[in-house]
Amino acid sequence: MDKFIIHKSSLKGEVSISGSKNAALPMMAATLLTDQTCVFHNIPDVMDTRTMIKILEVLGQRIQFDNNTLVIRAKNKSGYVAPYKLVSTMRASFCCLGPLLAKQGKAKVAFPGGCVIGPRPVDLHIKGIEELGAKVVIEEGYCIAQAHKLKGAHIYLGGVFGSSVLATINVLMAAVLAEGQTIIEYAACEPEVEHLALLLKKMGADIEGEGTPLIRVTGVKELMGCEFNNIPDRIEAATFIAASLATNSFLRIKDANPFHLTSVIELTKNIGAQINIENSSFSIKPKNNLNPVNITTLPYPGFPTDLQAQFMACLCLANGISLIAEKIYPDRFMHVAELNRMGAHIQRSGPYAIVEGKKELVGAEVMASDLRASAALVIAGVAARGKTEVLRVYHIDRGYEHIEEKFEKLGAKIERQKQ
Ligand code: UD1
Repeated sequence: MDKFIIHKSSLKGEVSISGSKNAALPMMAATLLTDQTCVFHNIPDVMDTRTMIKILEVLGQRIQFDNNTLVIRAKNKSGYVAPYKLVSTMRASFCCLGPLLAKQGKAKVAFPGGCVIGPRPVDLHIKGIEELGAKVVIEEGYCIAQAHKLKGAHIYLGGVFGSSVLATINVLMAAVLAEGQTIIEYAACEPEVEHLALLLKKMGADIEGEGTPLIRVTGVKELMGCEFNNIPDRIEAATFIAASLATNSFLRIKDANPFHLTSVIELTKNIGAQINIENSSFSIKPKNNLNPVNITTLPYPGFPTDLQAQFMACLCLANGISLIAEKIYPDRFMHVAELNRMGAHIQRSGPYAIVEGKKELVGAEVMASDLRASAALVIAGVAARGKTEVLRVYHIDRGYEHIEEKFEKLGAKIERQKQ
């Protein structure tokens, strides 16, 4: 297992943002809805993309992936079973359920378990496709869904924690080929969901209201192939904002979409930085003393749970006490103990973390527990005095493209040690 060795560094310069991983994975699953070829540009070359390629190959797609362009063609004979071995490594692969069911009338997708950030139920996915007329059973660890013909329905997709990104995506992809009209109420509004709907529309689907909590779909008979660009990764862009704050470095972030980052930019200004936006680029100039702030993670357009860890890392260096409320994954705090090993002073109480800012963090050996927590430890490592070793960086490779090269180019002393 590779590790990163990081020394305190200040950062400078500009960084280019890769295509969004969380948008790319559903786009790839959407190709199961057509027999024609799809070509996607700006797809990040990360482990999760590679895992999705393997799953689609098992399901009968032929795939080429070069220079961030994916070409996906359907083979004559399609499979409908997404095996546990692959789904267990990446929960997002559960979003093959909707398109397989819609196109082939059957799907057998491994039932994903919980993960390190807490329980991750799929009840809303199942409720949605059942309301479209599918029969669903859970057998031997698989979710087996069947429907002779899906029928449009009025579906309420709100859960205990609000909307669900992948449940909205699954139900939307099932509804595009269903007979009649479907209304999805309490749909997730994340840019990745909106982008998927735009792709489906380009493929011939009839959808209105994407990007809002109420999506209307009128089923069509078939979808075509198409060529489509991916959106920039808003979580990667904001990870570099957090790195800029933690290291008090002036950075320019390019090839991003600042309009997907309104809550983050607002918070960054409150923490104490000037942000100048020019189209798809923006610069961040932090002030010397960071202000403590309160953060509540919420569904989009609220502050994303996928940035809670990275912003916690920089608030460890703020001038006072910050309160973080995790409203999406109440157990997503594995990074707290690791940051405390670096001299941070964070107390967790249920879904809250109280972060008492310190003058400095001190390098240590720390363990990456999940994708975003790993990014937080890299940020803390670059900001901390001395040497930090981040173990198990395979987590970060799941979702950040060329992360250490990007940090290195900005001046960070970071080295990957192969184990
Ligand atoms: C997606 C993102 C992930 C992000 C998360 C929340 C992808 C590939 N992953 O995951 O990076 O952290 O959104 O923004 O896009 N829930 C239920 N029942 C369900 C489904 C979800 O109760 O059937 C709950 C979850 O436990 C969680 C909340 O709803 O508390 C939101 O989760 P959800 O939006 O579904 O997350 P994912 O789509 O899995």
